[in-house]
Amino acid sequence: MKVGILNGPNLNLLGKREPEIYGEKGFTAFLDQLRLSFPEVELSYFQSNEEGKLVDALHLMAQDCQGIIFNPAAFTHTSIALADAAKAVDCPIIEVHISNVYQRESFRHKSYISAAAMGTITGLGLQGYALALRALINK
Ligand code: DQA
Repeated sequence: MKVGILNGPNLNLLGKREPEIYGEKGFTAFLDQLRLSFPEVELSYFQSNEEGKLVDALHLMAQDCQGIIFNPAAFTHTSIALADAAKAVDCPIIEVHISNVYQRESFRHKSYISAAAMGTITGLGLQGYALALRALINK
């Protein structure tokens, strides 16, 4: 099984960025652990700070993968282009947020992506990606 993980803007700074909210682990180290925990899954990973590159990556991953784990970061709350892309592709998407967006500013309570997602995991830290992967495997 092939699964793509797609991370949006500023998530390249995980480990350094607001560690009290997002934790102290960088995503590359976490991804190494995830690959060891799920040897049966071929995991691809892409991160971009640019909306159009994330649209392109969603299109490409959907052709190649049986599931996508998507943290659109700040674009969650603004991007109709990413929402349209998520609706356009024929591949299950699980939306993940590291922080609990509902405990934060009200502008983070709106997600344009959720309607196109199979489900959403928010507030469980990086563990949310592992739980999303488990859900895609069990699907
Ligand atoms: C985030 C939550 C978003 O509101 C924020 O803009 C992010 C990360 C999260 O993973 O908790 O960059 O998606």
